[in-house]
Amino acid sequence: MAVNLSVQLANGSKMPVVGLGTWLAASGDEAQFAVAVESALDVGYRHFDTAFAYGNERVLGRVLTQWIASGRGTREELFVVTKLPICGMKADKVSHFMTLSLQNLGLDYVDLYLVHVPFGVKYTRDDELIPFTPQGLVDLDMNTDLAAVWSAMEAEVDAGRAKAIGVSNFEEVQLERLLATARIKPSNLQIECHAYFQQRALRAFCARHGIVVSAYAPFASPGRGEFYDAVGLKFEPVNLAEDSVVRAVAAAHGRTPHQILLRFLTQLNVVVLPKSVNVERMKANLHVFDYQLSTAEMKQLEGLDKGPAGRTFRFEFLPGYVFRQMARSASLMSCASTLQDRETSRISNVHENVDTVGNKSIDESIYYSFPRLICFEMSTLDFLRFEAINEPYTHLNHSPLTY
Ligand SMILES: NC(=O)c1ccc[n+]([C@@H]2O[C@H](COP(=O)([O-])OP(=O)(O)OC[C@H]3O[C@@H](n4cnc5c(N)ncnc54)[C@H](OP(=O)(O)O)[C@@H]3O)[C@@H](O)[C@H]2O)c1
Repeated sequence: MAVNLSVQLANGSKMPVVGLGTWLAASGDEAQFAVAVESALDVGYRHFDTAFAYGNERVLGRVLTQWIASGRGTREELFVVTKLPICGMKADKVSHFMTLSLQNLGLDYVDLYLVHVPFGVKYTRDDELIPFTPQGLVDLDMNTDLAAVWSAMEAEVDAGRAKAIGVSNFEEVQLERLLATARIKPSNLQIECHAYFQQRALRAFCARHGIVVSAYAPFASPGRGEFYDAVGLKFEPVNLAEDSVVRAVAAAHGRTPHQILLRFLTQLNVVVLPKSVNVERMKANLHVFDYQLSTAEMKQLEGLDKGPAGRTFRFEFLPGYVFRQMARSASLMSCASTLQDRETSRISNVHENVDTVGNKSIDESIYYSFPRLICFEMSTLDFLRFEAINEPYTHLNHSPLTY
């Protein structure tokens, strides 16, 4: 069985550095997913990353609890992560969705509970993850209060239902706000992070605050095609594993490019969450601790960073809004201009009503991360006025994000 190192979280618990990603792992074939989780346990995975929104907690939990019941391992050996859905971003819904996740998983506690995104949508039903307006736009909850949601997350730690709590898809500005009022600091930030999108500044911020960073999409998530097809969007995969630098380093070590991509991140002290349902790939993805990349190789790989342009999770499937109350920052203004250039026919007067949001300069990554839903600041109530842009889901007669 492969060795898997661990990193210590602020609460003292140990998080295995390689975790199994499970987004889309059960899509269409729950039986295959159950077999994959069995295989993952057999080859040494103990860290599993799921979310209420993935719709696979029940299958994952069934396999994990059977594994424990059969005496093959204990609950304490496992590290189970799940996430609060976007429709649960209200103080009085956190406990409700935690209960649902624990019921789904068949567990008394999770090792880490994450706030999935830093904004909220209206709550309609538990299974409507993202409600849409009659116009086919995301029905944002303008009353989302991130500090109140975080207090409710803290209460889950007090209740022993989450050993640690953290956030996902947050930028520095939101983390700062959270840290200003948090009684229990976030232990973990889960973000897109890979060789083309290395998130240097955000990683450095987390290091300064003792927040462990986990990388989602460590291979730039090439297997999302079907998901995009389902909502009628074009998906152009980034083939990170074909990169000539990655391939050369792989050849030098007799490893696969995927192993190099993971080794690179772990050597930057980043936890990795590769998703696979293929046992040979799962094994390969776990075998990243028995060698080192040299300083020169690390430099070469660091040179692949494209900054915000390397981001591949742009959440285009959330058709949405551009905020009219924007920071008076040069970078955001340039984002607004870019948007205006791209969407001239639909956006008018983006520059009108431009207002300040404190003195904060907001990074362009806001634009890159949510080009169709510029709402990273949503939960702070800073952005109250907005204007719809982009194609609404009028071609579908239901929310594509309901399951
Ligand atoms: N917090 C968030 O908002 C968020 C967003 C996205 C993802 N995540 C988490 O992060 C996890 C990982 O991200 P991801 O699933 O989007 O993408 P990923 O792990 O970068 O890529 C997964 C794809 O790579 C393939 N693959 C895996 N190992 C391979 C190998 N050794 N050789 C060749 N191909 C390989 C998989 O195919 P096979 O399965 O066929 O092997 C799958 O198509 C997710 O599953 C989820 O748990 C979180």
